[in-house]
Amino acid sequence: MKKKIITIVGARPQIIKSSAISRAISTKFNEQLEEVIVHTGQHYDENMSAVFFDEMGIPQPNYNLNVGSGTHGAQTAKMIEGLESIFLSEKPNGVLVYGDTNSTIAGALAAIKIHIPVIHVEAGLRSFNKSMPEEVNRIACDHMSTLLFTPTSTGLDNLKREGFLDNSEGKATADHPKVYHCGDIMYDNSLYFSEVSSSKSTILKDLGLTPSSYILSTIHRDSNTDIAENMEQIFSALFEIQDKTGLAVVLPIHPRTKSKMKEQLSAELYQKVSTSDKFKIIPPAGFLDIISLEKNARIIVTDSGGLQKEAFFFKKPCVILRPQTEWVEIVNNGNALLADASKTKILDSFDTLYAKTDFTYPELYGDGDAASFICHKILEDL
Ligand code: UD1
Repeated sequence: MKKKIITIVGARPQIIKSSAISRAISTKFNEQLEEVIVHTGQHYDENMSAVFFDEMGIPQPNYNLNVGSGTHGAQTAKMIEGLESIFLSEKPNGVLVYGDTNSTIAGALAAIKIHIPVIHVEAGLRSFNKSMPEEVNRIACDHMSTLLFTPTSTGLDNLKREGFLDNSEGKATADHPKVYHCGDIMYDNSLYFSEVSSSKSTILKDLGLTPSSYILSTIHRDSNTDIAENMEQIFSALFEIQDKTGLAVVLPIHPRTKSKMKEQLSAELYQKVSTSDKFKIIPPAGFLDIISLEKNARIIVTDSGGLQKEAFFFKKPCVILRPQTEWVEIVNNGNALLADASKTKILDSFDTLYAKTDFTYPELYGDGDAASFICHKILEDL
């Protein structure tokens, strides 16, 4: 009999992540695994959600809870309630959650409370900063999970330090979880969609850009968007870098950042940034476009976890606009630098990476087929 899993998606990055496993199921495991997709509705704008289903060929969700935005508690509570009733009627063998968003924690909590095994993909990552909502979500989710799939050896070490065993035998249960270090499904996706992007994306032409003539930047972390001083420091640094190097700055903008820019940036900086033809502030980009922008950028400046790694996959240096990262390997290997929201650190990090030429790219994130490994283990262990 086929095993049934329910996949929870909600925020942009997990919609993207889910495509690797949906693709593996439909091409290799269709006879053994059935996937039911639930969208919590955490992200709802066309360019934050629907575009990814369309262009990445992800099956349309079987359910959409349409929870929308809200405070963390209210948003998560609505999700838990909706998910529980779907789980009770669908009776899956497992609930698969991705990453560290409010949709992740809601899926894990709703499932474990009614004794459905939780499968956590992207387990074990830690920033050691519990003021980030994502850090709380990931720790709690890992400790509710029955199967934990970690993308990196750092993730495996973190889990072992928290008491998980990495080679447990026997049946996996919530009290006897199994941990697998399997590589990163986003590496699977980047390899797969890189080719599709090369043939389909026209973003460079549309923006009038040539390869290596621009910086790609994204800013959406609440600590960078909701604290006016941090936002000012970041934009001021980007403006100075642009001015100094002549590189353009391409900024696909999260709705939250867009609404806060006008409200919070000093009038002078807002004016400079919004009227400069070298600052290309564009709507959030689809995955094919963002890959094309990443592959052709001179350097990437971001607070996104996903973009940090994709910078590495596409051999681009990266200035990280955060005080710490879960993806420590790329910093330890000299491919990225942590600059927080400090203008001085951003400028210094940029200068260092802009001048550097001796980058190396070891295989830190697996072999590009983490999704098949995960499907095998779900079939074996649940
Ligand atoms: C969420 C995740 C974050 C992830 C990010 C990716 C949590 C705690 N955070 O952050 O880890 O990196 O998604 O994008 O789950 N908004 C819109 N349209 C939308 C969605 C959001 O306008 O489609 C605006 C709303 O004003 C909303 C704000 O963005 O209040 C923040 O959205 P939310 O989903 O709460 O968190 P993100 O910052 O997107």
